[in-house]
Amino acid sequence: MKLVFATHNPHKLAEVQSMLPENMKILGLNDIKCEEDIPETQDTLQGNALQKARFVREHYCCFCFSDDTGLEIEALGGKPGVLSARYAGDSRDSLANMDKVLKEMEGVENRKARFRTVIALILENEELLFEGIAEGEIIREKRGIEGFGYDPIFVPSGYKQTFAEMPLKEKNRISHRYKAFNMLSEYLMSLNYF
Ligand code: IMP
Repeated sequence: MKLVFATHNPHKLAEVQSMLPENMKILGLNDIKCEEDIPETQDTLQGNALQKARFVREHYCCFCFSDDTGLEIEALGGKPGVLSARYAGDSRDSLANMDKVLKEMEGVENRKARFRTVIALILENEELLFEGIAEGEIIREKRGIEGFGYDPIFVPSGYKQTFAEMPLKEKNRISHRYKAFNMLSEYLMSLNYF
């Protein structure tokens, strides 16, 4: 049975493939000719990850995993969370998203935040969830040009640089996404299918 990662993004596919053992080949949505936008209408990261994986499992009859990530800010009650990509509107504009967060955090002392990635894996009849967290805080202005999304306003715990000031290799070593995919990879390697 094929193992599909529910993404249309070839860069994301290559990045995840590079974290898996060489003999464990994964396919992306383009490889299985899935061109539609898979619905992501749930109000939790877990819900969205499961919704995407179940959709692929049901419509394309393959084993599948999918991920969903959000920035959760304590003082904002966990927002932007599941709304992270579109926090300032449907244009998915990272600068506008960060400006909205910085405005909402004006005068707020508690800067605690975390990135959380949830992966849903569906094999034969089992559904499993894996979670990776990067704790840190939101600074008061943007710094750095690497990375994407909210990286310029997030400093991970134990560091002085934002994710956007770190070389990508270093971010990847400590990131929420890396931790979650590492758990997925270890689980898949423990099975005999691959
Ligand atoms: P996705 O589920 O990976 O598509 O992530 C949803 C949104 O969360 C992205 O559009 C970004 O705004 C934000 N995000 C996810 N991962 C990161 C990260 O590593 N750094 C900064 N922002 C991120």
